[in-house]
Amino acid sequence: MSLESQALRRVKPSATIAVSAKARELIRQGRDVISLGAGEPDFDTPDTIKAAAIKAIQDGKTKYTDVDGIPELKAAICAKFERENGLSYKPSQVNVSPGGKPVIYNALVATLSPGDEVIVPAPYWVSYPDMVLLAGGEPVFVATTAKNNFKLQPADLEAAITPRTKWLLLNSPSNPSGAAYTREELQAVADVLLRHPHVWILTDDMYEHLIYDGFEFTTIAQVEPKLYDRTLTMNGVSKAYSMTGWRIGYAAGPEPLIKAMAKVMSQSTSNPCSIAQWAAVEALNGPQDFIPERAAIFQTRRDLVVSMLNQANGLFCPTPEGAFYVYPSCEGLIGKTAPSGRVIKNDEDFAAELLESEGVAVVHGEAFGLSPFFRISYATSTEILEDACSRIQRFCAAVR
Ligand SMILES: Cc1ncc(COP(=O)(O)O)c(C=O)c1O
Repeated sequence: MSLESQALRRVKPSATIAVSAKARELIRQGRDVISLGAGEPDFDTPDTIKAAAIKAIQDGKTKYTDVDGIPELKAAICAKFERENGLSYKPSQVNVSPGGKPVIYNALVATLSPGDEVIVPAPYWVSYPDMVLLAGGEPVFVATTAKNNFKLQPADLEAAITPRTKWLLLNSPSNPSGAAYTREELQAVADVLLRHPHVWILTDDMYEHLIYDGFEFTTIAQVEPKLYDRTLTMNGVSKAYSMTGWRIGYAAGPEPLIKAMAKVMSQSTSNPCSIAQWAAVEALNGPQDFIPERAAIFQTRRDLVVSMLNQANGLFCPTPEGAFYVYPSCEGLIGKTAPSGRVIKNDEDFAAELLESEGVAVVHGEAFGLSPFFRISYATSTEILEDACSRIQRFCAAVR
């Protein structure tokens, strides 16, 4: 008999975590390795937010809280949605979970029955399909193309919807492609959804504040108010406020869904950390000026990486609108021979050979459901990025 449950046997461990672990292992062995696998900002949490957490400890805010968030944080989240997204929610429409990932997981566990389908545009964040499987549903993948900047095309969405479709998962700006939907593109997706009233929409807006070249961020419930009653708008403090370790994510949506998610939490995690919740109150209500300052730094890094990768033999790197990832194509190198003498058959081989030859760790596209591509996280210093991209150029030049 297998130790793992039937549900868990359908799931694979996170490929991005595996790449970081492999890179760390090689570094321990003394290899000179640059890891571009990490999905977190290299900046520190701002001091004002740290101070709020210290004060929370000193004030004894160290007990159980309401299961899905303290009223002060729910109020701050409502104010954020009003101020930044033009969306009105009551505190009873807000969920706070221990991170953005658990928000999505709680929503799926609360709503999926066996056989329910969840549409996942590819390339997708690695956790979506496995969270759907763990919750008992079936992921339905819809491929996008580099030509369409990795954005879901309305006709492809229409073709993927069945009577069993429960959710569409949207993620803009996207991990791994960095693609962000314009208002017009979201409206075109919304027009399809209006014809299918049984489909709910979960929009993962985690990278909302990391957008470049003056891009205007919008979210689907704001673009199409007729979808408000079946949209869960999810966000969190991890990326915008450099708070990945604090574990606070949140979402707003229809009250019955929010109640169902709280029910899941009441019998599993209970409340998110009380201290981290108070830190998140300060993050959302406090000064926001460091956000565009940090985004400007990310934009400079994006431009550097895109330009250097496009000078590498056989690579093509589209310019993404947001997040801190690029998703270049390595199609030009497939079927060719790496310096090791081995043939590069797919993007997994490409990533493995690059790591072996030049010590640069990237995540292969197959992990995100769209090949032959790879993902680079540019949430690291300019010097490291220049070194890494020079090594990638050298590797590509050595492929025959
Ligand atoms: C698209 C996307 N959504 C959600 C998350 C999860 O964020 P958190 O660390 O708050 O769980 C991530 C983190 O990598 C992400 O890339």
